[in-house]
Amino acid sequence: MFFDNIIYRGYERLLTGEVRKDRIPRHIAVIMDGNRRYADRLGIVRNLGHTYGARTTEWFLDWCWELGVKQATIYAFSTENFSRTSDECAMIFDLIIKKLDELIHDPRTHERRMRISAIGEVHLLPSDLQDAIRRAGDATRGYDEMYLNIAAAYGGQREILDAVRDMAREVRSGELHADDIDESTISGHLYTNGTLIPDVDLIIRTGGDIRTSNFLPWQANGSECAAYFCAPFWPEFRKIDLLRAIRVYQVREHERKRAATRRIIDMLAACGHAELEDAIGHVRRAISRKDTATVAGN
Ligand code: IPE
Ligand code: IPE
Ligand code: MG
Repeated sequence: MFFDNIIYRGYERLLTGEVRKDRIPRHIAVIMDGNRRYADRLGIVRNLGHTYGARTTEWFLDWCWELGVKQATIYAFSTENFSRTSDECAMIFDLIIKKLDELIHDPRTHERRMRISAIGEVHLLPSDLQDAIRRAGDATRGYDEMYLNIAAAYGGQREILDAVRDMAREVRSGELHADDIDESTISGHLYTNGTLIPDVDLIIRTGGDIRTSNFLPWQANGSECAAYFCAPFWPEFRKIDLLRAIRVYQVREHERKRAATRRIIDMLAACGHAELEDAIGHVRRAISRKDTATVAGN
């Protein structure tokens, strides 16, 4: 156990160093899944699984802060989760209230200038939870160093539907012209309101399932964000899991840039002038040298 710990710390430090050398995702969204299965495995009451999960969320925010991730969006309660027993729903709601109040009084929130907000059909939540969300929003209004976005009573399709309805109303009243609607107009009408919460760079799901459960479909798919699915249940998610996820994002970004450069070169090649072809030859050789170097560096 002692040696495991030393090895873990060493590995964590190594990975942190590697990850820091490259671009850090601006916005990470997490589907924190597996709380109840974790409790089942330990043979403890399922509600405790949620309590342990909330502890991981706190650590997760610390790691995001240390690494310079500006936006963290966490899936705390989906619209589908309303179909769970009323006891479980009540327990989860109380836990979110407790955690929000702790965050309001936690000096880290203020040192980090972390703005807290909720996305979702907040009006469907119990009024004491709505109050807690309001308190947290008021206490952190104007902060802009880090953003914690809590998805509660959230459903991605519903978010898009609400945006479409809003836009239809604005078109009817003449505030908006149908021909002017583009991607940014839609982003601006989502709960995430494009400017405050940008598109997602990396989505993480714990608990072993490979699906995105109606989470941020517009914000994640539009930006073709990287996705990292991992086996640990949320309460056992560790910093190295986050670091591995970020590495997946970084590799993905490199691939994207290389593909874009190749496309430009192919396009230029299609133009077919002698000098251009000569220049393209040089760039191609440079890229393939760089590819080999990157692969060797991995
Ligand atoms: C995720 O864990 C937390 C919430 C949905 C609130 P689950 O409660 O879904 O736990 P599992 O996936 O059933 O183990
Ligand atoms: C996803 O977990 C939603 C949250 C983490 C809040 P669920 O356990 O509710 O999702 P499904 O039912 O497996 O898709
Ligand atoms: Mg689940």
